[in-house]
Amino acid sequence: MNRLVVVSNRVPLPSGGSQAGGLAVALDGLMERRGGVWVGWSGNVAERGDTLHVERARSVEYATFDLTPEEHEGYYNRFANGVLWPLLHTLPELMSYDRRDGRTYRLVNERIAEMLLPMLQPTDLVWIHDYHLLPLAAALRARQSHNAIGFFLHIPFATADVIAAAPEMASLVRDMLFADLIGFQTESDLRNFATAAQMMAGAIRMPGNALQFGNRRVRLGVFPVEIDAHAFSRTAGEMAGGVEADQLQRSLEGQALILGIDRLDPTKGLPQRFAGVRRLFEKHTQWQRRATVLQIAATSRKDVQSYQDLRETLDGQAGALNADLGMPDWSPLRFITRGASRDVVAGYMRVARVGLVTPVRDGMNLVAKEFVAAQDPADPGVLVLSRFAGAARQLDAALLINPHDADAIASALHAALAMGLSERQDRWQALWTQLEDRTPYRWGVDFVGALVRAAGVPPVGERGRTEEVTELAADEALPPERIQLLDHIGTERDPLRIGSLRSSETTRRQLN
Ligand code: G6P
Repeated sequence: MNRLVVVSNRVPLPSGGSQAGGLAVALDGLMERRGGVWVGWSGNVAERGDTLHVERARSVEYATFDLTPEEHEGYYNRFANGVLWPLLHTLPELMSYDRRDGRTYRLVNERIAEMLLPMLQPTDLVWIHDYHLLPLAAALRARQSHNAIGFFLHIPFATADVIAAAPEMASLVRDMLFADLIGFQTESDLRNFATAAQMMAGAIRMPGNALQFGNRRVRLGVFPVEIDAHAFSRTAGEMAGGVEADQLQRSLEGQALILGIDRLDPTKGLPQRFAGVRRLFEKHTQWQRRATVLQIAATSRKDVQSYQDLRETLDGQAGALNADLGMPDWSPLRFITRGASRDVVAGYMRVARVGLVTPVRDGMNLVAKEFVAAQDPADPGVLVLSRFAGAARQLDAALLINPHDADAIASALHAALAMGLSERQDRWQALWTQLEDRTPYRWGVDFVGALVRAAGVPPVGERGRTEEVTELAADEALPPERIQLLDHIGTERDPLRIGSLRSSETTRRQLN
């Protein structure tokens, strides 16, 4: 089996120190079971960043580098999170652009390529992740890497006219085309990228989700990130009886809990959500003192201006909401920015009557999937979900809303709070069916299998492509017909349509 080298900005180091976001959690299971090398930022800012620190845990080698203060500012805070993040989420008005940051971003990617290259063996599969590393595939090719290179974008890809607001985007789109396989969360992200590649880089669309770029054939595919719903369900069941969930429930004194769990991020639609909550209690006054909203919005990227502005806005909105509508013995909204562990949140989700997930744009949103998995099938809560989250494609049995429309949020909350048991059960069953047979491990296996085929990876030793896929699937007792199917699909077919199997890898806190 070819060695897998994963490159991502965040790395969940076994020694701790770096934060594990949704991306890291999604990959953890695959790395744990398959082994390989995981390269990325240590989470530290130091005077020098040009050496790799290596640590090993079981069969995974973690190789991390520090960022200098200038790199942390220019590459991570300002270009990745101040330009690419808002732009790719179609929030160009939040972009804060300075071409010097674009240069720093590119230099960091070049440096990562320099550090990575000596570690690479010719048969390694390289899997690059997310918007921090858009130019890395090109930087590796420029240094004569002939490895199979896959790229997966965890966040949305906006339309060409939106991304054109950053002058670097044309060259970044071109750089991405040096990968053999580029994966997206949804069909519309794939379509937007394919159009941008044609318009901005002169790529030619080929049949079967492929692009011709010079003499390169690049495959595109849709690989929606999944959660381990069975494991999360078990955790939620256990944690619902734990101290934290018990304390929360007692504090509610019989009121229904409406729960929001997010990073404090402009994409999550929190100001719009608070407006919707306000509208609920103003319009449907019967829910005053009968329902309480708990919004956990964990502080994130706090050096970025738009995140600081957002915090101020939310503080103002939450304060005014509680001041205007609160009563001596009731506050409509509990707004906290301290994060909670994934397990504790699982318990809160089980206790909640409504899950409120209303991003203005989101690549996938695993919190929506987790809320479904956390419910008690006999008495499930209701998911209110933005139609602009990638997860809405799969979770269309939720109450789907437009997050900009406060009345729509209020009506959906009212409907969710009033919904009878049998409708709640029917909706939950339809949602659960979407999740129960899928895992992040399977997601990783599907991507790696598609990469092997896209790059036409030659056999390692005596073993070939089919062995790669077969071995990855073996401990999940994959039926032979599925192996054939996996081997056959290439990227011609949407991997989303291929059913997935269960796994039991451990889960960790993730906020996507
Ligand atoms: C999203 C991105 C990840 C990122 C995570 C946490 O899920 O897709 O790449 O790691 O947010 O953000 P942070 O800036 O803390 O890494």
